[in-house]
Amino acid sequence: MVQLRLPENSRINRHGKVHKAPAGATHVRTFKVYRYDPSAAENPHVDTFEVDMDRCGPMVLDALIKIKNEIDPSLTFRRSCREGICGSCAMNIDGINTLACTKSCGDVKGEVKIYPLPHMPVVKDLVPDLTQFYAQYASVKPWLQSRTPAPPDRERPQAPEEQEKIDRPSACILCACCSTSCPSYWWNGDRYLGPAALLAAYRWIIDSRDDATGERLDALEDPFRLYRCHTIMNCTEACPKDLNPAKAIAEIKKMMAEREHT
Ligand code: SF4
Ligand code: SF4
Ligand code: FES
Repeated sequence: MVQLRLPENSRINRHGKVHKAPAGATHVRTFKVYRYDPSAAENPHVDTFEVDMDRCGPMVLDALIKIKNEIDPSLTFRRSCREGICGSCAMNIDGINTLACTKSCGDVKGEVKIYPLPHMPVVKDLVPDLTQFYAQYASVKPWLQSRTPAPPDRERPQAPEEQEKIDRPSACILCACCSTSCPSYWWNGDRYLGPAALLAAYRWIIDSRDDATGERLDALEDPFRLYRCHTIMNCTEACPKDLNPAKAIAEIKKMMAEREHT
């Protein structure tokens, strides 16, 4: 079993290897990248890569791919779509959780500091272990629960105004930028569901086609699963898709309060 490690700041050696830019490069940016290899039995460190931006695409993911292809093939990170759709390239860039494929190097001043999503176990380098995050997502049963059979010849109907309610929450790409920016999730991530899972719960609670609203709310009626949200709002600020999990959580709390008074 691979030993996972949290990126604890105090144990990071900030003076790892330095990879200089090629001679003659005139447009050089410096990337400071967190490295951790569980098979190396050493503390995490930060490597320095100087990249010739005249021969690199504009996004942070372009620079990481160039570093991996041309400088250090052992650098490990997730990516797939390069379009801000799959959510797999989420990491902490310049102190902010975001997607490497949509973050322009031009938006960062000075050195580009790249770390894995905070407060998660690290599998290797920039790859966090999201096992618990996905289990929490699954725990809210993110699928339609209907007691009536679907029409045999078409989709279940939904009025445009009902669809609009779930339109934005459905755009979540499960990148985990929100949950890993939430202090409540950092300290109670084993019991607090976190903003991403709660946004998914909300998306199904308000779906007009779903018949399990009561059960869904019952499942969240717990001092930790829902009520550990203290409305700090980091989650909404962090979301690269401009979603608002903090508002969704507030709406769920409101529904809980309303049903207590009915
Ligand atoms: S609003 Fe709630 S979920 Fe969002 S960061 Fe704050 S405590 Fe976390
Ligand atoms: S709500 Fe936003 S930040 Fe959170 S997982 Fe979904 S897309 Fe990512
Ligand atoms: S590679 Fe898919 S969101 Fe960045």
